[in-house]
Amino acid sequence: MKKAFRIVLILIGLVVVGVLGFIGFVAIRGVPTYDPPVVQEIKIEATPARLARGEKIAQMHCIACHADNENRLTGRKLEDLPPLFGTIYSVNITQDKEVGIGKYSNAELMYFLRTGIRRDGSFAGIMPKFPLMADEDLKSVVAWLRSDAFPVQPSKKEAPASEYSLFAKILGNTVIKPLPYPETEKFIPDSTNEVAFGRYVADELGSCYMCHSADFTKQNPLEPGKSLGYYGGGNEFTTLEKTPIFSANLTFDEETGIGKKYTKEQFVKVVRAGVRPDGSLLRYPMGPHPMLTEYEVGSIYEYLKTVPKIKNNIQNKEREALASLGK
Ligand code: HEC
Ligand code: HEC
Repeated sequence: MKKAFRIVLILIGLVVVGVLGFIGFVAIRGVPTYDPPVVQEIKIEATPARLARGEKIAQMHCIACHADNENRLTGRKLEDLPPLFGTIYSVNITQDKEVGIGKYSNAELMYFLRTGIRRDGSFAGIMPKFPLMADEDLKSVVAWLRSDAFPVQPSKKEAPASEYSLFAKILGNTVIKPLPYPETEKFIPDSTNEVAFGRYVADELGSCYMCHSADFTKQNPLEPGKSLGYYGGGNEFTTLEKTPIFSANLTFDEETGIGKKYTKEQFVKVVRAGVRPDGSLLRYPMGPHPMLTEYEVGSIYEYLKTVPKIKNNIQNKEREALASLGK
């Protein structure tokens, strides 16, 4: 009996030493690097349609995270990220050859946007990836990054370096990994199939599920529908007033979701203009999305109707979080 007890103690000891050793290793190594991409360069013609589409996608994603206070994409502090990830700054993605992305080829940029692996093999763990975005849409983004648009003109300005927390480093060594580069071309679904088109606009073009699910660390970018709490909301952010805020429940649950709250017309208005029917404004980080057309947002609504309902009362969650802070 005593011997068995000793063996158990030794085993527990070994596990503790192992875990501490892993944490120490991670703290020193940081986020791992991978093999640099070996990709064939592709030609991307900067047609007016591509530049407009690229700008639209950049407005939804890249600009919010990369623009400085002069609207140049030289990098900025990511204020709304929960502090548990550390102090994170985005980087300079202007066309500058030294501090920006001027040295990337088109193919390397496409590879990075899908997988998170930079041309030198280092891994961007915080930046969202776009593994399922249509090739044509990614080409539009790259065409815009290469254009003479003001935000991407070469600039030497740099944001401070990020300080990743131990938690972020552990995630970067365990659950947050580069994504595989797709083997086949990805296409934008036919817009006459409103549900399929709406799913593409919501999940791939708008990445709405990334914020409107339950936990950033339990997302599945390769199969968004398998993310924890898909469209049930609850992910935590910080408002501009530095108070906690949670993403809304966008499933059609009648009580806690949008099933009874919004008609299609009202949904289109709240998403595009950021104003609720009662006149209240959606708060940061939920910005208005005027770049999406009425048809695109209407299609998101049709798609959300088909998503499994989740009961999750976000108002209560916010009230409790504020109460625990004594507010
Ligand atoms: C949520 C914020 C966020 C969004 C949205 C975002 N980025 Fe980033 N990006 C980052 C951060 C942070 C890094 C630095 C690496 C890291 O920590 O993940 C980065 C790094 C990069 C890099 C690597 C640059 C280098 O030095 O090698 C490129 C290229 C890039 N982003 C382009 C884009 C483009 C294009 C978009 C829009 C399609 C975009 N990013 C959207 C936060 C973001
Ligand atoms: C950066 C994270 C983020 C992204 C991306 C995002 N949302 Fe939100 N969204 C939020 C947060 C946080 C709220 C809560 C705002 C508030 O309470 O004022 C919200 C609120 C909403 C609401 C209001 C719901 C209600 O009950 O009143 C709708 C509708 C909505 N989002 C739709 C969308 C759609 C559609 C997309 C994609 C095009 C999207 N969101 C992308 C974070 C995000």
